[in-house]
Amino acid sequence: MNNSQGFFSARLIDWQRQHGRHDLPWQKTRDVYRIWLSEIMLQQTQVSTVIPYYSRFLGRFPTIEALAHAPVESVLELWAGLGYYARARNLHRCAQVIIADHSGRFPHDPLAIAELPGIGRSTAAAISAFAFGTRTAILDGNVKRVLARCFGVEGFPGSARTEKEMWLLADSLLPNEHIEAYIQGLMDLGSTLCTRSKPFCGACPMHEMCIARREGRQAELPVARPRKVLPERETTLLMLTDGKRILLERRPPVGIWGGLLTLPEGGVAEARAFAQRHGFRLIGMRSLASIKHTFSHFHLHIQPLLCTVESTASVAAETGWQWLDYEAVGTAALPTPIRRLLVTLTNG
Ligand code: ADE
Repeated sequence: MNNSQGFFSARLIDWQRQHGRHDLPWQKTRDVYRIWLSEIMLQQTQVSTVIPYYSRFLGRFPTIEALAHAPVESVLELWAGLGYYARARNLHRCAQVIIADHSGRFPHDPLAIAELPGIGRSTAAAISAFAFGTRTAILDGNVKRVLARCFGVEGFPGSARTEKEMWLLADSLLPNEHIEAYIQGLMDLGSTLCTRSKPFCGACPMHEMCIARREGRQAELPVARPRKVLPERETTLLMLTDGKRILLERRPPVGIWGGLLTLPEGGVAEARAFAQRHGFRLIGMRSLASIKHTFSHFHLHIQPLLCTVESTASVAAETGWQWLDYEAVGTAALPTPIRRLLVTLTNG
């Protein structure tokens, strides 16, 4: 370890103790279930968004056993609105693997943790450090930003080559003790001071050593992803309503909104066929204003088709279909853009 590396960890630990976060709901516990859940929820999601979901989730599933034995639908319901639903499905599968293959005990070794469904190297390391005090490096998006700026790493951190270089750097920086404060300090620095835009360099403990700050290159480091345009996709969704209720369909487990209740896909022909098949009389059909929702890999333009039906028969008995009362729209477990559409409809 050279001097600037020893300085980095010592400085960071001191700073974390004085200025870092100490009262987050998943701190002050060594319960690996709670720590694991928090790290999964915090992937791609801000602390303030996570907190209410985290406490609701623990209220409903207080232990790994409770989670493993629950139906996946009830896990997805508690996740609704948090996004990236594969995280919830993996969490549930992971609980089952721990019960079945690990005698109900969460592994301690980051390498073994990283073998579990949906847990990458950095998340595995964070869980192991916080729950078991393991001396191991993390490297999530925030940490990449801190290291790229502080040590002047020039490549795009999402490329295999630069990522490898950054893991070596992260390993070389690890302190010999106080790993928890160090790891939390990296996360805190990345999310409170070393922010993507307008970082608060004046308050940063790395102020003197940071290469980006010294060279005025905070906006250039980390190097941005070579630009790629997200593809645009379009879909038409049916809003079949009798004026008081709206018809929802449970999606198959894979693909976007897998396993969630959502509006059925289809246009005029599907609406007609549906009404005929189920003995509804279609009494009106009109397009509503389209909305755009951006997923990580594409933009989705949603064209809603409002179909008013005179309800005689019921589809409620058919698996996968469900009527939702207008009054229940605010509280139902729905993907965010679907909720937006339904709120607009039922408030208008
Ligand atoms: N982001 C990821 N893990 C975190 C943690 N333990 N505390 C705060 N933010 C985080």
